[in-house]
Amino acid sequence: MIGKKVEAAFNDQINAEMYSAYLYLAMAAQFDAMALEGFAGWMRAQAQEEMVHAMKLYDHIQERGGRVILQAIEAPPSEWDSPRVMFEDALAHEKVITQRINDLADLADQEKDRPAANFLQWFIDEQVEEEKSADDVVQKLKRVEKAPGMLYMLDRELGQRASTAPAAEGD
Ligand code: FEO
Repeated sequence: MIGKKVEAAFNDQINAEMYSAYLYLAMAAQFDAMALEGFAGWMRAQAQEEMVHAMKLYDHIQERGGRVILQAIEAPPSEWDSPRVMFEDALAHEKVITQRINDLADLADQEKDRPAANFLQWFIDEQVEEEKSADDVVQKLKRVEKAPGMLYMLDRELGQRASTAPAAEGD
């Protein structure tokens, strides 16, 4: 049975993951508006992955006899100055999520909740990937700024992610 403190913190994390999905969907919408379909597809895939993360937490609470309580999802920004600023914001956001996951792992340890600590290991590993994938694109966008024609090549490259099965990526 899940304890009340861990249950509450996991419910908060469901909200943080759903906000992440909203944030990346807002970024997808701006990329769609800019006719950068590859970037938009990358962000859509990322949004779907965040919903998978939220559902993992949902299932963990349920499986351990807890109660999922959904909270209001904050509205994300709707405009960014450039693709680079968007991916820099995505990276900054992932760093916040990493800190939240680390705090959850600390709480699980304090509460001696071994199933939660074990479960969170997947998220700890995932956050390494999350930060890396956003940072990789930031680095590419920095190079593209020196040769703007490259933006469309990068758009094609990122669009390849959308053609893979995004919902399965979080498994
Ligand atoms: Fe659910 Fe992007 O971390």
